[in-house]
Amino acid sequence: MPQNNRQVFKLVLYSAGVVIITLIVVVMFRNKLPKEVSSNPSVWPKFDVNALPPDSNGQMIRYGYRLIMETSNIAGPDVQNPKMRFAGNNLECRNCHFNGGQDKNTMSFVGVANRYPAYSKRHERMSDLKERIDDCFERSMNGNKLPAESYELKSILAYMNWLSKGVPKDLEGVTVKDIDFPKREPDKEKGKSLYMVKCITCHGFDGLGVLKNPIIQGGVKYVIPPIAGDDSFNNGAGMSRMERLVKFLKTQMPKDNPGSLSLEEAYDIAGYVSGLKRPEYKGEK
Ligand code: HEC
Ligand code: HEC
Repeated sequence: MPQNNRQVFKLVLYSAGVVIITLIVVVMFRNKLPKEVSSNPSVWPKFDVNALPPDSNGQMIRYGYRLIMETSNIAGPDVQNPKMRFAGNNLECRNCHFNGGQDKNTMSFVGVANRYPAYSKRHERMSDLKERIDDCFERSMNGNKLPAESYELKSILAYMNWLSKGVPKDLEGVTVKDIDFPKREPDKEKGKSLYMVKCITCHGFDGLGVLKNPIIQGGVKYVIPPIAGDDSFNNGAGMSRMERLVKFLKTQMPKDNPGSLSLEEAYDIAGYVSGLKRPEYKGEK
């Protein structure tokens, strides 16, 4: 009957409306939450700095995130204000701590605030998160410590605290586990040949990286970061040491196919890369 059909049609239309509105509300609410943390150690949390409120704390966390993602734009050696030149090279923290330290099975910052203070083999004593950040500024970034009272340090700490809040201690994939090396000297010649096949397309000759065209492409200085030379990490950095470098290459590189290198290959390539020219660390031990 036409009357009945119209009622059925209205009912269908009404139900569809309810479903759509519910979906919109769910999506809106999901984005309002700063992050989703579960107590289940196999569920990786989701982070979205853009969903943080526009208050001073949200602003600080977002600035901390930017400092990790585009370090050279804010604190690199070429910025206008000399007082802001905390880094001595044009790397970004994210070049080693992928996606702002938010990615699973990388050297992530997820839960990092809960991992400090911790014993530091480098300093042979307990070390806090500020000092650990300083270590990367002085070595990986070949620069200087951030002043304790600086808004920059406070913002990085705020960002790392935010990535750590409520994160279970046993969350899987927060760091990269140490690996055992082959018990032999690395074959640097073989490492060089492998570099020519597996790395040079991205990192370029002698590992000097690939610059962006500043006119066509905005943002940070490099499309692909340098892994050697004046604009890279210094010889006091973790990445210049075989155990860190082999582990990084074996699990994180090549960026487009991580995990594809055999341990022997990663070891020989690390032998070659660690021998390339880079700045000398001038700080205390
Ligand atoms: C050239 C690579 C590189 C760059 C660039 C770099 N780091 Fe690191 N960072 C490392 C390595 C290697 C470790 C040691 C990781 C390990 O022990 O497996 C590390 C560890 C850390 C840790 C401790 C993580 C943990 O789980 O204990 C913090 C915090 C950190 N870096 C902060 C920074 C900050 C902030 C920047 C930018 C100013 C930065 N790093 C830039 C290589 C780098
Ligand atoms: C497909 C391109 C690509 C290939 C191939 C590749 N990388 Fe990378 N590599 C990158 C990118 C991009 C980054 C920075 C990642 C980011 O910022 O998210 C990086 C980061 C690095 C870093 C840490 C940052 C730095 O500048 O020191 C090292 C060390 C490194 N790569 C070494 C290697 C080596 C050795 C090989 C060969 C086994 C290799 N990569 C192959 C793209 C590549």
